[in-house]
Amino acid sequence: MDLKQDCFLVPGPVRMSESCLQALSSPVMTARGTEFRDVMAHLNSGLRYAFNLSPSQPVRGTQSWSGDDDYKVVVVSGSGTAAMEMVIANRFRSNDLVLVPTNGKFGERVAEMCKRFCNVKHIKYEWGRAFDLYELEQQLGRGCYESLLICHNETSTGITQDAAAIAEMCQRHKTSFILDGITSVGGLPVHPQEWNAEAVVMGAQKCTAGPSGIAAIAINSRFIERVHAIREQGDSNPNYYFDMVSALKKGDDDQTPWTPAINLAMGWAASLDNLKSESNEGRWNRCEKLAHGVQNLFLDLGFELLADQQQRSNTVTAILYPDGIDDSWRNRLKEDYNTQVIGAQDHLKGKMFRIGSMGETPIEEMVEGCKRMVHCFKSFGLELPELDVGSYFV
Ligand SMILES: Cc1ncc(COP(=O)(O)O)c(C=O)c1O
Repeated sequence: MDLKQDCFLVPGPVRMSESCLQALSSPVMTARGTEFRDVMAHLNSGLRYAFNLSPSQPVRGTQSWSGDDDYKVVVVSGSGTAAMEMVIANRFRSNDLVLVPTNGKFGERVAEMCKRFCNVKHIKYEWGRAFDLYELEQQLGRGCYESLLICHNETSTGITQDAAAIAEMCQRHKTSFILDGITSVGGLPVHPQEWNAEAVVMGAQKCTAGPSGIAAIAINSRFIERVHAIREQGDSNPNYYFDMVSALKKGDDDQTPWTPAINLAMGWAASLDNLKSESNEGRWNRCEKLAHGVQNLFLDLGFELLADQQQRSNTVTAILYPDGIDDSWRNRLKEDYNTQVIGAQDHLKGKMFRIGSMGETPIEEMVEGCKRMVHCFKSFGLELPELDVGSYFV
């Protein structure tokens, strides 16, 4: 086994390409000059593609953040959580009531965040179990919710929510629909317009293989109207740095209200070029191939997957450790096999591991990584069937 090349199979941050790293190391430029506005136009246009929205020109002064549809994209200096907070803080008044169903850590974080800014009905499903759509329908039927928010792809448990079905219910009940798409946008089919989503959030370091510390939001005109109306009524939640009204003022001119994350923006624009070259469909398909390979392989090896079968994610797979194995396996995998996956969170810590299949990960790296994982499990004395790992990824 040749272990020179590392296998980095973490569900974000993911490995960045050479072109992204080069762009990150570009010489400094001013925050308000034409050069940076060119960068923003390039980034905005790439983001519209990643969000699966209509195209815009990557050219300064052409309204690069908007297109022929009802959406604008807003770049946020900060990680995905910052962008999610910006959405929630600006969209709701303190006496609004929102519905947040969850089945993992990041959905629970959405609910916690909402509690800082409004009232929340938090429906907690067991980690990895699909939402009960009948229950959600009943809740929406009460007619009391301003919005339903979900973590679309639950990275902590490897489950993808049935966003199309939830979107349809929200439309029928005239309730706004907001998604944390941090590990779905760019890696899984996301359709903001078809789903009539008011806001979708993405983080650079996940499916688009950009740098950590920068994120983006796609918002529709209804979202923008609500934000302005709440501001005019003097009913806004307190916040300054993440003020959407300020961001909206600057966006027309390919700018941000405060000093932008200049080099991160350059790096992200370069990785979004890679996404465009591969195409959304190409990347969704590759992620699916990677994830299905991992899932089928580990099932055949006799492992148990955490997420409900019908809704297993194509960007992250959560695999339970067999009896007698814990995170010391992951440490050995890193130290002796030059391969990284990630552990579990909260009550599942030490009980499972998660394999990322997002970003630009080539099939060969996943095959090699899985071979090393199998080898490492065997080094713990586990008896596993002899399987042709490569054949799971063709
Ligand atoms: C689905 C999801 N939401 C939110 C977050 C938090 O994003 P960030 O760490 O970029 O703030 C993560 C991070 O892993 C995530 O996977």
